[in-house]
Amino acid sequence: MTETTNDLAAPLAAEAERVLRRNWREGTHADGTAYAFTCPGAPRYRHQWHWDSCFNAVAWARFDSARARAELRTILRSGRGDGFLPHTVFWDRPARWRRAPLYATLRVRGDRATESIGPPLLAWAWERVAAASPDEPGFAREALGALTAHLDWLARERDPDGDGLLTILLPDESGLDDSPKYDPVFGRLAHHRPGYARLVQRCRRLGWRADRITAAHEEHLEDVWVNVCYALSLRALGRLSGEGGWSARAARTEAALLERCLDPATGLFLDLAGRDETPVRVSTWSALSPLLLEDLPGAVRRRLVEEHLLDARRYRAACGIPSVAMDEPSFRPGFDLWRTWRGPSWTNVTWLLVGPMRDLGYEDDAARVRLSLARAARAHGLREYYDPRTGRGLAARHFGWSALVADLAEPGSTDHRG
Ligand code: GLC
Repeated sequence: MTETTNDLAAPLAAEAERVLRRNWREGTHADGTAYAFTCPGAPRYRHQWHWDSCFNAVAWARFDSARARAELRTILRSGRGDGFLPHTVFWDRPARWRRAPLYATLRVRGDRATESIGPPLLAWAWERVAAASPDEPGFAREALGALTAHLDWLARERDPDGDGLLTILLPDESGLDDSPKYDPVFGRLAHHRPGYARLVQRCRRLGWRADRITAAHEEHLEDVWVNVCYALSLRALGRLSGEGGWSARAARTEAALLERCLDPATGLFLDLAGRDETPVRVSTWSALSPLLLEDLPGAVRRRLVEEHLLDARRYRAACGIPSVAMDEPSFRPGFDLWRTWRGPSWTNVTWLLVGPMRDLGYEDDAARVRLSLARAARAHGLREYYDPRTGRGLAARHFGWSALVADLAEPGSTDHRG
């Protein structure tokens, strides 16, 4: 007998809640700041990561909206008054000694958080959690000032050429640490190579100032996925605040993605690397992520589905949506101790992309993809990622944002919007 999403919904919801509760951490940091967050997965990922927490909060919303709100408020408390929010925060324990030199901190030991950013999803997550918070209606507007400061900080500090596209200084600022799209950009300084420590040191020396770093070096890029997050958050803050200026800012970023990153030959959105803004011609799921932007032309979005997501040589896989196109020479679908994002299917990516697939009219395909990942999670647990060819669960177990599979398993529930 074949399982349907109906059979999977209840057991996967129970498993998702169990994993979220297991990974929940709360307490008070030595500096007196209270925290509450979901760690991605012990023992490897024991800290708070910005985008993990955004997804975790969205996953929490169906089980315990108070925890979802607490997680997002903790992200705000992780930052500085000027609007900077860090990629990783060491609330309850310092980084382990072997990994500490590789975190993008000011000093090797003792900092509370990194100086690097994460994919800026906070305002987007805030809107979703607010929609799940009828018990606390004030939540929607309580952080307008802080979210404004955050998005203004990004515009001021991370858009040195003022074109509406944010720049990242380290590959992992997108969350896609070792993606092969960064190989040609960072070379020996890539995240999985020994030179990465030099890249971090360089940024430290230049005070993590994007204007100074981009003026002096070639290893930086305008990353499509990061800018999709930025546009989603600008749109979300527009709706939360009711102020029109935010949608104009979002439209500017969306227009820049369309005019500067869209590759007419393939229909993919390509990152722009270095001072010359050279397009990076590697097909990864990030090149498809503008699907999430509902204001982009329908034809552009449908092309991403038809020529990429539904192509069996590229992204149409047995399980989920591969993080790299299967016809890329760099595609590696299995586990690698040192490298991530080089092929396997991740739950958050699949969850993000099936919503717009369905909205654009590809309901059957969206349902097929949802079911394939839900089945893998049922068979192998909430793993960090899955082999797109077989559905085999890989890497970390009890992985936080894989709790989003509870949505995938529920027919018709996946909705990436607020
Ligand atoms: C890995 C992933 C990154 C994630 C982090 C915590 O570094 O590549 O995307 O945020 O783990 O889960």
